[in-house]
Parts: sequence; C-alpha cells; structure tokens
Amino acid sequence: MSDQDKTKEELLRELAELRRQVADTTDIHDQKCAEEARAKERQSLWNMLQASDHERQIISYEIHDGLAQYLAAAGMQFQAYEFLKENLPVEAKKAYEAAVELVRQAHAESRRLINEVRPPVIDEIGLETAISHLVHEQRKLGGPKIKFDSDVQLNRLPPILENALYRITQEALSNACKHSESRKVLVTLTQEGQNIRLEVRDWGIGFDAEAVKKGHFGLEGIRQRVRLLGGRLTIDSKPDSGTMIQAIVPIMEKLTED
Ligand SMILES: Nc1ncnc2c1ncn2[C@@H]1O[C@H](COP(=O)(O)OP(=O)(O)O)[C@@H](O)[C@H]1O
Ligand SMILES: [Mg+2]
Repeated sequence: MSDQDKTKEELLRELAELRRQVADTTDIHDQKCAEEARAKERQSLWNMLQASDHERQIISYEIHDGLAQYLAAAGMQFQAYEFLKENLPVEAKKAYEAAVELVRQAHAESRRLINEVRPPVIDEIGLETAISHLVHEQRKLGGPKIKFDSDVQLNRLPPILENALYRITQEALSNACKHSESRKVLVTLTQEGQNIRLEVRDWGIGFDAEAVKKGHFGLEGIRQRVRLLGGRLTIDSKPDSGTMIQAIVPIMEKLTED
C-alpha cells in the first residue's frame, strides 16, 4: 500500500507509533544517562570514603609510632626513677631527665599532629600567610627552589574554602617536591572575580595522571576537594615536560543552602 492509498487514520496511527518509539528511545537514553551519573557519583563517594579512611589510618599509625611510643617510654623512665631514687640517686636523676625529655618530644609530636589534622595557622592568619608558612617549611627540607605568588583581594575566604585550598596546595606542593625532580616550583594563588585560582607548577619529569597506581590518595584527595567545592581541576602533565595542577573554585559563603 502506497502512502497515497493509506487512510488518514492509518497515517495518524503510524505517526503516533513512531512518536511512541522515539519517546521510548529518548526515555531509555535519559535513564541510561541518569544511571551513569548515579554510578559516577557512587564511585566518587566511594573514593572519598576510601581516601578519608586512608587519612585516618595514617593518623592512627602516626599516633601509634610517634606519640604513643614517646609516652610509653616516658612512663618507663618515671617508673625507673621511682625504683632507683632511694638507692641510686644519680641513675634516678638520669631516668627522670630522660622521662622529661620524652614528654617534651611527645608534646612537640602532638602539636605536629594537630597541625596536620587541622592547621591552626589558617584560622589565625588566613590562607595566604598559611601557604607562605607551608612554602617556608617545605624550603627547609631542601629540594627545589619554591616561589609563591599571590594576589587575593579578599582578606578572608570562607573557612571551608581556606582549609581545602590549603590542603590542595600542601599535597600538590609535596608531590612536586617529592616526585617531579624539578629544580623549581611555582605556587600561585589568584583571585579572579568570584573565583580563586590555585596553581602549582613544576618543570620536572611529569607523569600520566590517568595511570596512577592504586593505593595513592593524594591526587584523588585533590580531585574530591575541588569537586566538593564546585570547582574545576586541570592536571596538565606529560612525561619530561613538567606538571601543572590548577584548581579554579568559586568563592561562596555557603556550599549548600540549608
Ligand atoms: N608533580 C609531579 N611530578 C611527577 N610525578 C608526580 C607528580 N605528582 C604526582 N606524581 C606521580 O603520581 C603519583 C600519585 O601521586 P599521589 O596521588 O599524590 O600519591 P603519592 O604522592 O602518595 O605517591 C605519584 O606517586 C607520582 O608517581
Ligand atoms: Mg602525593
């Protein structure tokens, strides 16, 4: 039957059927996209949980191997002091002094750990100065020449943003110093309208960001932080041509409306 022979009703029915088929395909496509987005979101959350679990593990190792050891050793020295003080006062004095020194080291260690968990300097002095401190501390370890340029008009940024940008800088800077073999590293913090741009650049050996082995959480942490801040992350790295990590994040007072 040719199109001319078909009745109007038949043509309309065919048209309706075609429309239904198109709608079905669009539905399936939409469903597939939504499903993919949900899977991606689940994977991101999973990665984030894994990274945070890993951070906790590191902190617990550090407490176990550092702080707890100093305190246990100090306790033993105090016990020795108790035991020796009547009959061997010189030995007792040595034990006492060793114990005091161990307590002092435990105190320094706990300060370092607190700093690692939530750097108090940011609260007190703001992001720019906190990053200057970070750069200063990193310089003390030797390694590449580090330059820090900043141009931020706002005096203070929202605390969540300051903390996240500090962590991102810490990880990217430590990566550049640890892995890149570059002779210099440049850290830049700039305000561009309603955005903050953070860049850590080196001129070292570069790497393939898509081929990072399992069990490394630094870059993943950077990705997650930028994502949570609603920002954009660019990792530009090629073997032998250095690495540029750039995060552009919006300055906002609240991340979510309550
Ligand atoms: N700036 C860099 N230059 C060269 N390689 C890098 C750089 N940053 C990261 N990498 C590579 O990417 C890997 C993953 O980095 P990261 O996720 O921070 O884990 P980690 O620093 O614990 O190894 C590193 O082991 C290193 O091989
Ligand atoms: Mg790292």
